[in-house]
Amino acid sequence: MTSGIRLVLTDTNGNTRTIEDAAVGSSLMEVARENDVEGILADCGGASSCATCHVYVGEAWLETVGAPDEIEEAMLDMVEDVRRPTSRLSCQIRLSAALDGLEATVAPPF
Ligand code: FES
Repeated sequence: MTSGIRLVLTDTNGNTRTIEDAAVGSSLMEVARENDVEGILADCGGASSCATCHVYVGEAWLETVGAPDEIEEAMLDMVEDVRRPTSRLSCQIRLSAALDGLEATVAPPF
């Protein structure tokens, strides 16, 4: 009945879990919060202005997820100590069918 997609998320404790029914159109941050994924604080509520929703996207997914926009890029620069080439703000990743199976790891606090 559900048209949800599958996400494989690793939290800041190193625990990996699969979420089977994430809603298309939600942000990755919203789904992580709904599922109490440890380490996603999302202090700004998804406005791309806190970086407490920082994740590392699985290498294989990087191209499909796409690059950060200018505002997100500026936020990621502020967490450069823990930034990686695969860094994204999960509030800026809008879930679509193309992201079914997406893997991401929550970045450590900065
Ligand atoms: S929730 Fe604040 S930047 Fe993503």
